[in-house]
Amino acid sequence: MKILGIDTSCDETAAAVVENGETILSNVVATQIPFHAEYEGVVPEIASRKHTEWIAVVVQEALDKAGLSAGELDGVAVTSHPGMLGSLLVGLNFAKAFAYALKIPFIAVNHMLAHLYASRLAEERPDYPFLGLLVSGGHSIICRVDDFDDITVLGATIDDAVGEAFDKVAKHYGFGYPGGVAIDRMARQGDASAFRFPMPNLYKGEHRYDFSYSGLKTAVVNQLEQFRVKTDPTPEDIAASFQKTAVEILLRSLFRAVEDTGLATVVAGGGVAANSLLRARIAEQRGAERCGALRAIFPPLSLCGDNGAMVAGLGFRLLERGDRSPLDTVASARVRGFKKKYP
Ligand code: KG4
Ligand code: ZN
Repeated sequence: MKILGIDTSCDETAAAVVENGETILSNVVATQIPFHAEYEGVVPEIASRKHTEWIAVVVQEALDKAGLSAGELDGVAVTSHPGMLGSLLVGLNFAKAFAYALKIPFIAVNHMLAHLYASRLAEERPDYPFLGLLVSGGHSIICRVDDFDDITVLGATIDDAVGEAFDKVAKHYGFGYPGGVAIDRMARQGDASAFRFPMPNLYKGEHRYDFSYSGLKTAVVNQLEQFRVKTDPTPEDIAASFQKTAVEILLRSLFRAVEDTGLATVVAGGGVAANSLLRARIAEQRGAERCGALRAIFPPLSLCGDNGAMVAGLGFRLLERGDRSPLDTVASARVRGFKKKYP
């Protein structure tokens, strides 16, 4: 089965064709970064306007690169939530019209589940259950994953998403856009011990795996001097010290979940899964005492950010099972349908 996957949840106009949920035949991502860069953040009105201008061209390019005509598709999958409403609507309505005109099945998917699916499009395919680490600009979740559409949230941010913290710090200091990419790059030239930023302390009871980023953001943006260790720190030192703390906050909860659940495979997804320090720190844990058997699976960098291939892959699994979405499916800014349960 060849499925067209479309994602317009944020600032990438993305379409891909994936065969049998595994083989990527094409994966086209038209980034809007230059249009948002001067505002140092995504402008929702510009994003939805660009999606409207580009969607047909991007879908056609995905078909051309896959060497297919529209009539050879077996289904259309699209992100319907979560994301920016005006942006989601462009892809969702396009996909509905496309599927209706071609008389092929239509399925609306959850963007975060699609991020989790991304690593399955690469070499390694872990067995369920495993731990999921979903880290993007809008969401940060540690979850138990029992199937491609069956996840239980163990912990989540109680305020800002981790990617959002990267973006806000980068915007405040003019480090560049997108913030996560700029900080990751700058941090390589910086001294991560130049500042000692505070770690949140809410690891009790039902918040055992939760975490928080607003305190770190406030410390870096408003109280920098209070946490300075080194004289004459550089912007690179700020980036490195912030990134180190941001990653440690996430890992503290993640490693606790690894220990408590005994699930030693962690599958990451989302834009922040591209972070080089996060990838290195998790890899480093292999063989270490605390999480000795840990196996970490990260999607290739090309599938960490938003893309249509992950949507097509997840869409295939749902369609294969017989799921279909009605043509009156609505878009939603928020996540719908995750079971929330604390062990
Ligand atoms: O998944 P994604 O492309 O879009 C959302 O669904 O939000 O994630 C975008 C987020 C942004 O906050 C961006 O700054 C962050 O991922 N990001 C990174 C890196 N690359 C992208 N954060 C840290 N390090 C990176 N290398
Ligand atoms: Zn995303």
